[in-house]
Amino acid sequence: MQERNRTTDYLLLQQQAEGILDTEPWYTAAMSNLSALIASSMEDLNWAGFYLIRDGRLVVGPFQGKPACIHIPVGKGVCGTAAKQDRTQVVPDVHVFPGHIACDSASASEIVIPIHSGGTVQAVLDIDSPVQDRFSAEDAAGLESLVRLIEKKIRWE
Ligand code: SME
Repeated sequence: MQERNRTTDYLLLQQQAEGILDTEPWYTAAMSNLSALIASSMEDLNWAGFYLIRDGRLVVGPFQGKPACIHIPVGKGVCGTAAKQDRTQVVPDVHVFPGHIACDSASASEIVIPIHSGGTVQAVLDIDSPVQDRFSAEDAAGLESLVRLIEKKIRWE
């Protein structure tokens, strides 16, 4: 496939996310609009949204895309690995990631970033693409900054 210039304006994304969180920081409202913002700001995505830790496992939260897996055990799949290791996962080819959970067969690459509250992982931001190797180091840095903003502003109740 031809190389594509797929640069997201992370400064603009950050400013728009701040507007969303400042208007209503309650997590259901904020995560709903943040997933819509991400889906409309980044090219070549087929799923963008959140999983939240609830009763010791990940449960699907607000998202954009096809209906997804509802429960993911911590330590399983890309999302559960990000939550367990407390580390961003950038997966260029989901088909070779051990234990990848295929919710949408169109997904080819994926990025998952842990979101903290009180020093522990409370949720993850999960973004899927139908294009292999979609997420660059610049995407990881931009999305990690977005997650730091979410952690600072979101209200969990
Ligand atoms: N692929 C993820 C599951 C969630 S969906 O991509 C929306 C995983 O392996 O954890």
